[in-house]
Amino acid sequence: MSTTYYKRLRMELPLAGTLLPPAVLPAGFGWVGWSPAVLPRHAATKFESFRAELDSQIFPCLGEMRGCLDLMSEIAQRATFVPGATWLISHHPEGRAVEDCATIQGLVQPGRWGAIQNVGVVPEYRGRGLGRALVLQCLAGFQAAGVPRVYLEVTACNLPAVQLYRSIGFCLARTTYRAVECVESPVPVK
Ligand SMILES: CC(C)(COP(=O)(O)OP(=O)(O)OC[C@H]1O[C@@H](n2cnc3c(N)ncnc32)[C@H](O)[C@@H]1OP(=O)(O)O)[C@@H](O)C(=O)NCCC(=O)NCCS
Repeated sequence: MSTTYYKRLRMELPLAGTLLPPAVLPAGFGWVGWSPAVLPRHAATKFESFRAELDSQIFPCLGEMRGCLDLMSEIAQRATFVPGATWLISHHPEGRAVEDCATIQGLVQPGRWGAIQNVGVVPEYRGRGLGRALVLQCLAGFQAAGVPRVYLEVTACNLPAVQLYRSIGFCLARTTYRAVECVESPVPVK
């Protein structure tokens, strides 16, 4: 058994008085707002988005369908859950069944900090602007709920995600390290 330490970045963005760009989806995609009925769809989309990613080694629940369902249930039951900052994106291809392709959730923490959770786009839908639209839609939901500032945490070597958050205006506030026990031989800090 060995321990690997993953570098994690806390990134923050002020929302009060910030003019956000609109959250625009490409043609053929649509927003699905929160209701308890869509909880399993969030869980399935989270699983597809994270199952092959490093974050599922750091947070093993993300690599299992059951874990994603439990995590979604736990998030949705919290008193701090923000439905207006919680969204799915679905794809409506002509002549084919609707497919969910991206998910995000919002919580509000002590100090009125909005906390963005589990930004995920299913692999085959990446690189089309869905991740950006998803974060902007979540931020608009926080703004509408009167939340003055938001943060998220991201694994430092997850460059697509770090780059996405930077491009929206998030700034690094703090670095932390998350210890993960593993059976393989130790690897250096990432
Ligand atoms: C991170 C993630 C959400 C990005 O979603 P996406 O739909 O591909 O992102 P977009 O197409 O909206 O891209 C928006 C910006 O992100 C950055 N970006 C996206 N993919 C990138 C890549 N492969 N390399 C570098 N930057 C990238 C760019 O700044 C891009 O802006 P640009 O198109 O103007 O260059 C997606 O890769 C993902 O779900 N990853 C797995 C789950 C995960 O790690 N989530 C983050 C948890 S904190």
